[in-house]
Amino acid sequence: MALKIIVGSDNAGYGYKEELKTILEADPRVELVADAGVTGREDGTFYPNVATAAAEQVAAGSFDRALLFCGTGLGVAIAANKVKGIRAVTAHDLYSVQRSVLSNNAQVLCMGERVIGLESVKALVDVWLGLEFDPASSSAAKVDAICSYEED
Ligand code: RB5
Repeated sequence: MALKIIVGSDNAGYGYKEELKTILEADPRVELVADAGVTGREDGTFYPNVATAAAEQVAAGSFDRALLFCGTGLGVAIAANKVKGIRAVTAHDLYSVQRSVLSNNAQVLCMGERVIGLESVKALVDVWLGLEFDPASSSAAKVDAICSYEED
């Protein structure tokens, strides 16, 4: 299934957001890439505004996933997780990136431009694109429990 992905960052994550946007646009596994901002290093839009805007698009079904960057990858994840239905993670290692989808069915991956090298980000995102949650897996009931809590 080709993915629709929305990218976003604050000014601290702008460089990686632009790099990865270009890569996603050229990837055959991706059918659509949108950009929630920011527009440059001089754009001072706060990370929560970008992250929640992108996450709302995913929650609404307009996009399958979001890829968000800030300085640490932490703030954008915290903000995105405030949007109902969103499971956002910060992950900078292979196992966590894999499990974010396979165990947690997370739709939002967050990374920090001040934390991880660009080549590692590219390699991890390449893996991320190939991952698919299995609703028949033993993880499904656990994700359902998160959703139930959110509904209560
Ligand atoms: C800079 O505002 C920095 O705090 C931000 O990019 C992010 O790391 C927050 O979590």
